Amino acid sequence: MDERIISNHELKEDTFEGSIRPDSIDEYIGQTEVKENLNIFMKAAKMREEVLDHVLLYGPPGLGKTTLAYIIANEMGSNIKTTSGPAIEKSGDLAAILSTLEPGDVLFIDEIHRMPRFIEEILYSAMEDFTLDIIVGSESSSRSIKIDLPPFTLVGATTRVGDLTGPLRDRFGIISKLNFYTVDELKDIVLRTSRVLESEISEDAAIELARRSRGTPRVANRLFKRVRDYALVMGSGYIDLKITKIALDKLKVDEFGLDATDYNLLESIIEKFNGGPVGIDALAASIGEEAGTIEDVYEPYLLQNGFLKRTSRGRVVTEKAYKHLRKE
Ligand SMILES: Nc1ncnc2c1ncn2[C@@H]1O[C@H](COP(=O)(O)OP(=O)(O)OP(=O)(O)O)[C@@H](O)[C@H]1O
Ligand SMILES: [Mg+2]
Repeated sequence: MDERIISNHELKEDTFEGSIRPDSIDEYIGQTEVKENLNIFMKAAKMREEVLDHVLLYGPPGLGKTTLAYIIANEMGSNIKTTSGPAIEKSGDLAAILSTLEPGDVLFIDEIHRMPRFIEEILYSAMEDFTLDIIVGSESSSRSIKIDLPPFTLVGATTRVGDLTGPLRDRFGIISKLNFYTVDELKDIVLRTSRVLESEISEDAAIELARRSRGTPRVANRLFKRVRDYALVMGSGYIDLKITKIALDKLKVDEFGLDATDYNLLESIIEKFNGGPVGIDALAASIGEEAGTIEDVYEPYLLQNGFLKRTSRGRVVTEKAYKHLRKE
């Protein structure tokens, strides 16, 4: 697992996430369209006194999928049970979780794309008819039993929606993609975090932090926490633009939020592959990373911000990247 300061994966040091995690939809900043839709569907479900349809949330790490799952449960006034794709190995694991569900509960399955296929198939009937069909007993005396489940809402989260099978995807009534946040939205997230943690930050410093946070709230919050340390030790504790810039430069996060790993990736393509196109596997081998990590973690932000382009023949470094790296 990468330990970059701008990693969008949850790191050990992110344990403070719980305290700064918004718990109502009004406090959840950005993702306007997703929020608006969810609000309507949640209201309608409440008016009909039904459970909310199953929800699939997808998008890069750290954009607020887990946060939103908890918010859905809060807003629906229900309890949330959580598990993850890799944690469900046997049909018994799934049966055990499903049988604890109470009417209206939210079942959150993180990394749902990593669930084994045969588990997925058990989930189909659970999602569709709220029944659990499982086979019990040994091979010679096995029989299938059907258990009624209370109505519940499955909230699935994934960074790789393409890895989900069609039949599973089709069983979600609500499918929402989370997008990278704008600088303005990230600024609001930073300001909110500053209020919650009671460490004051100036508006221009919040914008600077937002700019360097790769569109990702988790990164913004992590950078905030580090900058706050610099402000406390080197200044009065008040986080102003000057201290923010010093801290971020020390943390080696540039004005676009790129760090050494991004530089290494872009430079490898430029130097070893003439700027591309280069296939993902060749690129992965050249920088010693897994192809999947490049696709899920490094690449989305570089693509979104025009440093990298994906063509049918592979990845190509853009003019903007050349300029930024001063390679011309
Ligand atoms: N819309 C938002 N408004 C305010 N804070 C947010 C928002 N989205 C996320 N955050 C903050 O960012 C942190 C990371 O979000 P979260 O854990 O929900 O991401 P995730 O999409 O589940 O990531 P992963 O794919 O790694 O599981 C949260 O602790 C929360 O504080
Ligand atoms: Mg999560």
